[in-house]
Amino acid sequence: MCGIVGYVGSREAAPILVEGLTRLEYRGYDSAGVAVLNGRGVETRKVAGRITALGELLTRTPVHGACGIGHTRWATHGAPSERNAHPHVDCTGTVALVHNGIIENAELLRARLERAGHRFATETDTETLAHLIEDAPGATFEERVIAGLAPVEGTYGLAVISEADPGKIVVARRGSPLLIGVGAGEYLVASDANAVLQRTRSVVYLNDGDIAVLTPLGYRVLDRAARVQDRAVDDIEWDLETLALGHYPHFMLKEICEQPDSVRATLRGRLLPDEGTARLDGLNLPPARCARVQRIVILGCGTSWHAGLVGRHVLEDLTGIPVSVEYASEYRYRKPLRLPGTLTVAISQSGETADTLEALRAAKAAGSTVIGIVNVVGSTIAREADGGIYLHAGPEIGVASTKAFTSQLVALLLFALYLGRQRGLALAAGRTLVRELERLPDLVGRTLELEPAVRALAERHGDARNALYLGRGVNFPVALEGALKLKEISYVHAEGYPAAEMKHGPIALIDENTPVVFVAPKDPVYAKVVSNMQEVKARGGRVVAITSEGNGDLRRLADHQLSVPATLPLLSPVLTVIPLQLLAYHIAVLRGCDVDRPRNLAKSVTVE
Ligand code: AGP
Repeated sequence: MCGIVGYVGSREAAPILVEGLTRLEYRGYDSAGVAVLNGRGVETRKVAGRITALGELLTRTPVHGACGIGHTRWATHGAPSERNAHPHVDCTGTVALVHNGIIENAELLRARLERAGHRFATETDTETLAHLIEDAPGATFEERVIAGLAPVEGTYGLAVISEADPGKIVVARRGSPLLIGVGAGEYLVASDANAVLQRTRSVVYLNDGDIAVLTPLGYRVLDRAARVQDRAVDDIEWDLETLALGHYPHFMLKEICEQPDSVRATLRGRLLPDEGTARLDGLNLPPARCARVQRIVILGCGTSWHAGLVGRHVLEDLTGIPVSVEYASEYRYRKPLRLPGTLTVAISQSGETADTLEALRAAKAAGSTVIGIVNVVGSTIAREADGGIYLHAGPEIGVASTKAFTSQLVALLLFALYLGRQRGLALAAGRTLVRELERLPDLVGRTLELEPAVRALAERHGDARNALYLGRGVNFPVALEGALKLKEISYVHAEGYPAAEMKHGPIALIDENTPVVFVAPKDPVYAKVVSNMQEVKARGGRVVAITSEGNGDLRRLADHQLSVPATLPLLSPVLTVIPLQLLAYHIAVLRGCDVDRPRNLAKSVTVE
């Protein structure tokens, strides 16, 4: 979705802004622009399309100055055009701003401003903010921004510059993340830490309601009454190298292949082999509170929701506590149930997904303790939860979530192990799980050795127009995830189903052109899934079986068999999903799709 970067210091701002925007490309966007302050006032350059086009425009018509703001836009109000691209300016062209979020009362504000004589140049909700600030009272620029925002309803992450106050960026946050990059004699603002890494690893995460003022001499964080606030400076855990493709053609493939390391990182320092349990320092759930948990509600969207479905299985198995898994977007609009003893778990790679964040807030308002399972450190969900588990999977750039999914599964396993041991899970069972979790990174590495076979499979089935993914038990969500991966990056229609549900409808789809991918490792429902394979075979379907080593030869039934290493059934989704990630990747590449930037999708969905 939209991205913000701003720079103030002693260097030329434009190249720093373009570099920062390039680091935000992965979030999805359709237009881009910058505005730079210099002796001639505010100069803007905007394009519809890619940042490379913005770079070319800046080469043809450079803008000079050491203070500027930049933006990548993902259209909501108004078409993705150069005109609607940010930065937007006021009537005088002296105030320019970039904005993430949605102004909910934009129509009303626009009508009011037009009646007062303001002329609008775009269809965006954002432009109202420039005109509001133009008219706002105040002794300083920051006071005018605060006053201008007073009538605004909705969400914003905002960076504003003004010709009247050169060398200053004012930023404001409400519901849309922003952070300050603290450099030496230079300061940046961005919606994502990746955008400031080129200049600094020190960041200040802003809270909702914060206003910040950046100049080459320093930064101040203020509240709405312009009182100075204290905010900690944190370190970004990764470096620029982590954000580079290296020898990989796409981030998605890089991230799939990184999974032995990302799984290892999620486990690091958290396994206690003797006690047969996990140590989860940030969880904030001491034994007495674990004892009071009567039900667990898991919230998430997309891939994170799929991880939650696996989590339900694992948690119910190891803790005996009933678990429900909710689409965050649906949960937040249902009547909140104030059930004592409810523990809510919000799962989100980005920690910024609007639906998950609002669902978390609804759960808190209903009296629930909320924990977050989040990858991005310092993200809003991580900060608003009562405790949580960071994935430490490293930045995930590919829009299709891969390594975050396997790390989410591992975090849920650790959580279930910890809670289970508090709730009567036997020491021996705990130790067995710890031993198998310790082996997991190596098993993930061995699973990746299937890649050539998966590529061959993709060549065989790359032309299919539909695909079915079937699984049962803890591997049913893996079928859903496999289908989602294929859909989102290759635009091939795919459905995930519990294998036994097939005969209640989807069996009608089966023909010789529809590959049916079964997720069938050795587990208590294996024999049942094999029966479901028989049903597909009997109707002339093309069967692909993802099974586990030692399961024997399925070639009588399956046109293709791929075997992942054997492990405990509860851990198997971490392995079975990998061939499905690779399959979606190779099919998308064969079909010529833009794997890392699939059409219409954004990495982090910060609007409802
Ligand atoms: C997965 O490949 C997605 N692109 C998408 O479904 C994603 O998982 C979803 O938007 C939730 O994101 P989050 O984990 O950052 O909250």
